[in-house]
Amino acid sequence: MFKTLPGFREFYPEDVAKRDYIFKVWRDTARAFAFCEFDPPVLEQLDLFTEKSGEEIKSQLFEFTDKGGRAVSLRPEMTPSLARMVGAKANSMRRPVKWFCMGENYRYERQQKGRLRAFYQFNADILGEESLRADAEIIGLLVGILKAFGLTRDEFKVRLGDRTLWVLFLENAGVKDEFIMPVLSVVDKIERVSPEAFLEMLSGALEGSGIKADALAGKIREFISLKDLESIRAAFDGGMVPADRIDARLSDWRELFATLSDMGAADFVKPDLGIVRGLAYYTGFVFEAFQTVGSGRALAGGGRYDNLVKKLGYPDMPAVGFGMGDVTVSDLLELVGKGKSLDNSPDVCVLIADESLRGDALRAIYALRAEGIRVDYQFKGAGLGKQFKYADSIGARLAVIFAPDEFSRGCVGIKNLKSGVSDEAKLDSLCAAVKAAL
Ligand code: HAM
Repeated sequence: MFKTLPGFREFYPEDVAKRDYIFKVWRDTARAFAFCEFDPPVLEQLDLFTEKSGEEIKSQLFEFTDKGGRAVSLRPEMTPSLARMVGAKANSMRRPVKWFCMGENYRYERQQKGRLRAFYQFNADILGEESLRADAEIIGLLVGILKAFGLTRDEFKVRLGDRTLWVLFLENAGVKDEFIMPVLSVVDKIERVSPEAFLEMLSGALEGSGIKADALAGKIREFISLKDLESIRAAFDGGMVPADRIDARLSDWRELFATLSDMGAADFVKPDLGIVRGLAYYTGFVFEAFQTVGSGRALAGGGRYDNLVKKLGYPDMPAVGFGMGDVTVSDLLELVGKGKSLDNSPDVCVLIADESLRGDALRAIYALRAEGIRVDYQFKGAGLGKQFKYADSIGARLAVIFAPDEFSRGCVGIKNLKSGVSDEAKLDSLCAAVKAAL
């Protein structure tokens, strides 16, 4: 007996129907925001991910050497491929670029609830626009998608953090440039580790900096607990960073919230400096959407990454975007009773009362299908009673009945299986009659 590998799912048709509902909401909402769909490769050169995504992703890669001796990896995320695709054509592209994609990603993670080794992810990104209006549009889309699933303010929230503010805060505390990113990657883990482990990791990140980890740890915890701009401003008093740099960033915060408010999204978004994000390439505002019921897991995450395209060797291209996984979203929809499926059942079931009519029935079936109507029929000849049972069991809305009497008059029977109402239709205008009855 063979089993699926840990962290990989197999989708039976009813699972695909649920998954495709999620895909439909993702795609329809992104298109309503005028994003265009793109599709990057599943397998990439290994160093596309090892150089830019950061340590956490590096340890989770499904990597191997292919038969041509190339070091390759299944994609753990879409962002580096997107940066390459846009970067390669940057000079000839109309800006801003607003793109989305949907596909499976692979991470060799420790399997746990909400975390798998193969998961679908929706991504939406805006490249070539440095203003906060792009950050707002991206957060507006994130909120728009979760609302399109029928989720409410009681069920999710977006926590908004800011790497720029963190850099200012650490500079203010005397942390030199080269220690800032290592410290931030420790801050990213603060909610997931014990205070002792946090202190130990922070000491490691600060080694050689001349800064005492325990004093800085206290300041970091205090800074994270601040939830309004006034107290954030006050936290910088008496430090090394000039006030105008801090004030300029806080005015960005005000502008972002004013725009989100016009979009009807501000109520879903809460300032939260505990969000710094694990991936290495983020540069400005960063955010994560969390479910606020049940396990409280992350539904989506993203932020601004202004240097990635340039770091890959292409022209300067500021960027902002997010990724949303299917696993936690579908768990949440089930939990709150808002899970839906795309309809797999056919529109029509054709019933054949006499085998001599099978050829004519098949001709009609294929003509209906060519019009995009979903039609099923039974391969085995059977009595009409059995065929009606079959039509019910597959959830067909209409039965079209080929029987000798009607057929001799150029007609077929049509029965609405939901209302029970029966009628007759001319065979030569069957398509129109079926469309009218559906
Ligand atoms: P990320 O935070 O690594 O960001 O992933 C985004 C979302 O993908 C998570 O919030 C979660 O819903 C889902 N996800 C991630 N890993 C797993 C897993 N192992 N199993 C199930 N779901 C998972 C990124 O990937 C960035 N590239 C997003 C981005 C796009 N930033 C800018 N543009």
